[in-house]
Amino acid sequence: MQDVDNLYTEIVTDVSGTTTLSQLEQIEIKHFGRQGSINTSLRNIKQIPEKERKAYGQTINEIKDKASALLEKHRQALIEQAGKEKTVDITLPGKHYPHGSLHMVSYAIDEISKIFEKIGFIRMSYREVEWEWFSFESLNMPKGHPARDDFETFFIEHEPDPTLGKMLFTPHTSSGQNREMKRLGKPPIRMINMAKTYRPNWDASHVPMFHQFEGLCVDKGINITHLKGTIDYFAKQFFGPEREIRLRPFHFQFTEPSFEVDITCGVCKGTGTVNGKRCKLCKQGWLELGGTGMVHPNVLRDGGVDPEEYSGWAFGFGVERVYSMKEGLKLDDIRILYNGDIRFLKQF
Ligand code: PHE
Repeated sequence: MQDVDNLYTEIVTDVSGTTTLSQLEQIEIKHFGRQGSINTSLRNIKQIPEKERKAYGQTINEIKDKASALLEKHRQALIEQAGKEKTVDITLPGKHYPHGSLHMVSYAIDEISKIFEKIGFIRMSYREVEWEWFSFESLNMPKGHPARDDFETFFIEHEPDPTLGKMLFTPHTSSGQNREMKRLGKPPIRMINMAKTYRPNWDASHVPMFHQFEGLCVDKGINITHLKGTIDYFAKQFFGPEREIRLRPFHFQFTEPSFEVDITCGVCKGTGTVNGKRCKLCKQGWLELGGTGMVHPNVLRDGGVDPEEYSGWAFGFGVERVYSMKEGLKLDDIRILYNGDIRFLKQF
């Protein structure tokens, strides 16, 4: 009986001495396990004189009940404490979680938007799923016009609209010109429309989904000097103050006159030669930026703007294109932008 009397005190001491749940588990095994002190004492009952056995058994069962209640109480206390404290070992090295970063195109869009916002242009993002009318008819390209072929288009299988025609993925951001003229109702207009554009090409220099940014400026007395001044401002802000631009005559149905914009090459600084050899990046010192021109009167008219009173200019450049020209990335295969390879993407 002496042993049994000590048993309870021993369990109390053991249990209250534990400060963690795993320590407590060890104590639980020590006393409540199959080979633990309580079960061992119960098995010893055979060695007890017969008349004492009943009392002995009762005592052990009482101890067992009291001790297990104590143990549970202590367990709850430890669980609560663990929740509160969450002890931190400040000497452990910290965990390194991989950092995400924006996609290079997102950085580009951000940078380009800011440059135009500084001179009062409003950033828009017109739809990438559009009606045929906005991408073509409203841009002076009536049904069957061969110029439509320049903008190879993904059409969407959908009931055509009786007046707006088929549904498509916008092959250029110029569809936003009419949308913006209608949104505002009347000039002045200073829009920069950045959106996804689609054309069915997939090779080292083309991806079927890319981004364009479209400038549109319509007001009284707008002329080519404003157009050239704005693009020059953009080129110097975006590529650097030493860069020059030039306008080269071109053709678009929705602008008259139309131009392609070239910018001096960042590698040969517009000279066309590097260390006496022909520059590999450009053509005689110039790189092509994109298309521009004075908005065609028919386009203004379709947007509800009177071409007798107002005039305007527009341009459309590729985001991926200008950004890779700026960074001098010289991507062997432009598709790397969109294949999700983290080794490439994390460099930005
Ligand atoms: N939309 C034309 C393109 O994608 C670019 C452009 C826009 C040209 C506005 C002139 C004016 O090629």
